[in-house]
Amino acid sequence: MTSAIENPLDQAARDVLLGNDRGGYTIPTARLYPYQWNWDSMFSAWGYGTFDMARAWQEVDLLFSSQWDTGMVPHIIFHNPDPDYFPGPGVWGATQTPPTSGISQPPVAATLILKLYEMDPKAGLPHLKTLYPKLVAWHAWWMRERCKDGPVAIIHPWESGRDNCPDWDIGMEGVQINEDDPYTRRDTGHVNADERPLKWDYDRYLAILAFGRSVHWNDRAMYEDGPFLMADPGITFVLLRAFSDLIEIGRILGEDTADLSAQHDQLREGASKLWNAEKGWFDAYDLRTGQSANVLGSGAFLAYFAGVSRPALDAHFARIWDKVAFGVPSADPESERFDPRRYWRGPTWPVVNSLIAMGLTDMGRNEAETRLRNETAALIEAGGFWEYYDPMDGTPCGGASFGWTAAIWLTWCGKDRAAVQTAGKETE
Ligand code: GLC
Repeated sequence: MTSAIENPLDQAARDVLLGNDRGGYTIPTARLYPYQWNWDSMFSAWGYGTFDMARAWQEVDLLFSSQWDTGMVPHIIFHNPDPDYFPGPGVWGATQTPPTSGISQPPVAATLILKLYEMDPKAGLPHLKTLYPKLVAWHAWWMRERCKDGPVAIIHPWESGRDNCPDWDIGMEGVQINEDDPYTRRDTGHVNADERPLKWDYDRYLAILAFGRSVHWNDRAMYEDGPFLMADPGITFVLLRAFSDLIEIGRILGEDTADLSAQHDQLREGASKLWNAEKGWFDAYDLRTGQSANVLGSGAFLAYFAGVSRPALDAHFARIWDKVAFGVPSADPESERFDPRRYWRGPTWPVVNSLIAMGLTDMGRNEAETRLRNETAALIEAGGFWEYYDPMDGTPCGGASFGWTAAIWLTWCGKDRAAVQTAGKETE
């Protein structure tokens, strides 16, 4: 699969994935994230698909082997205990083997499984067959347990995959913290604290976790009585797109997809509730209070991934992109909450860009897609495969040698890209 003159970054990207391989699953990055994360793992699989299809399917099959009886596919699978990570399996208190967290993460699986299948249909077919009912069950779980108000609601900010984005601020304000339950963070020992969520956030993350543990991660209890419940544009659009791809998988397998189409329609209808007409964007809202977040973030632009666009949204997309050197910022650069290096409060995340780009391509917005691809590739060429980047000056941030950034280099922004002089100066 390699071209005659290979870009050295291609091998560097493969080396990141292989270096993060822990035998059947791939960690996002050493130390900071030493377990199998749901959507990271799907991106890693997509990356492996460019050079080792068997390894790609192994990643996916292992992820789905931890699916709960409810249909949920958990956000972390704690394969091997690592005392250097907090909060570990004991804090989650879920009773699976291997232990898992008690929440889910953006369901990119159907979309990326379809991509893997298309890369090599013969190798993919047996996996498609075994994974299809699991995907159907996972999507049904989202609809049953999280979409009671229409769009997807999350019961913990971590479920969104955009942990501390400003979208969740109003919901987090209502969370009572447990003052007499001290804990020690590990993340700030691995990464600059200025790039991580605040103590204010962690106090609340842990309080929600304590509630989940107390109800044994019962979805109904979490939804009805949990400390946090917000509608999430990001997951809603990821799931909306995933339904189209799951329907396509069903069609390939000759399955009856009428029920999936009905759920897809229902979710599309539900997604329209996220529209904030006053602001002109898709907005999170708090299901406990009915209050809109009034926050524009990258979750709104995942609408494109689901083939949804509106003129007002497009205008905001152009506006915020023009305020930064490297799109797409995770928060609005014109908002007072914008913080260009603090995790999901401003930085550019290549992995999210790859999803937005898929949507732009499908919508025929090739100029925007090319610009996004070039800007993302430039970040990686200058800095290496980091977790995310400052959108103003491109400074690499968070964890180094990051799996999903390497994966999207191989599958998207680095594909067929000529080598540049400054390539590959990753440092730790
Ligand atoms: C953080 C991110 C989440 C990701 C995880 C592992 O929690 O917000 O999206 O899956 O790290 O990389």
